[in-house]
Amino acid sequence: MQRKGIILAGGSGTRLYPITMAVSKQLLPLYDKPMIYYPLSVLMLSGIREIAIITTPQDQEQFQRLLGDGSQFGLALTWIVQDSPDGLAQAYTLAEDFLAGAPSAMILGDNIFFGHGLPGLLASADKKQKGGTVFAYRVADPERYGVVAFEGKKVRHIIEKPEVPPSRYAVTGLYFLDGDAPARAREVQPSPRGELEITSLLEMYLEDELLDVETMGRGFAWLDTGTHGSLLDAGNFVRTLTERQGMQSGSPDEISWSQGWIDDDALAARAELFKKTAYGQYLKSLLEE
Ligand code: DAU
Repeated sequence: MQRKGIILAGGSGTRLYPITMAVSKQLLPLYDKPMIYYPLSVLMLSGIREIAIITTPQDQEQFQRLLGDGSQFGLALTWIVQDSPDGLAQAYTLAEDFLAGAPSAMILGDNIFFGHGLPGLLASADKKQKGGTVFAYRVADPERYGVVAFEGKKVRHIIEKPEVPPSRYAVTGLYFLDGDAPARAREVQPSPRGELEITSLLEMYLEDELLDVETMGRGFAWLDTGTHGSLLDAGNFVRTLTERQGMQSGSPDEISWSQGWIDDDALAARAELFKKTAYGQYLKSLLEE
């Protein structure tokens, strides 16, 4: 079955107050584009065209104003509401009807990835129909994330925000899981902080020896947007990359066109819409090159 995508873009955003009091975190700018463009691009690079976007009830309309039905990117978008931020694993039960038994790739709407080998890494995760794949990335502050506990080279556990991290490897917010994920997610019990943790779901797959943990090496960038400072740093990183290379990172317009999902005329229409910006001029230049 064809893998479907989920972008989890709800949550309360309280760590970025007051910025996120009136606007969703995943709509904030990362230099020249809204944050959600970047995770959306990752799913598109994986070849995924059917995507559900999960938002809070109050933010859904704004996301829809930005992304519509997805046809401008050659995508089919489905909109799902999460009434309260009860945890990441809940995304799978909310998306159960949408998935209809298909395997999925879920990405958190605030997770930003760059890296030369990304399409290859995604393609090999996509090939695996049974079980799942997650990605571990070495960070300086693992205690803020789900952390991998190794025994030798074998992954024994994935522990959510451990006080004493068993390794420096955080599990990133990109999860390739098989069609059993919604049924398994229904079995997840709330953690002491009252959330349905994604790490609890991953532990179920680990126990059944069905989870691959792939390391993203130092050639990848997995950027944090969880604090005011890291949000600004991520924006500056995108700016540096974009201006130095004269190329866009995280452009759903470009990816869609290069995948052959939209034609030259459709890309030209997007370039026209954005003609007052460097982004629009970049799209136009793709057609001229
Ligand atoms: O970023 C990777 C980390 O994401 C993982 O290493 C952790 O295992 C995982 O639990 C998660 O940790 P966070 O502390 O970053 O989760 P946070 O509560 O900040 O939520 C992550 C994103 O998901 C955020 O943009 C808000 C959104 N969200 C969160 C919850 C709890 C929802 O849309 N719904 C929710 O119920």
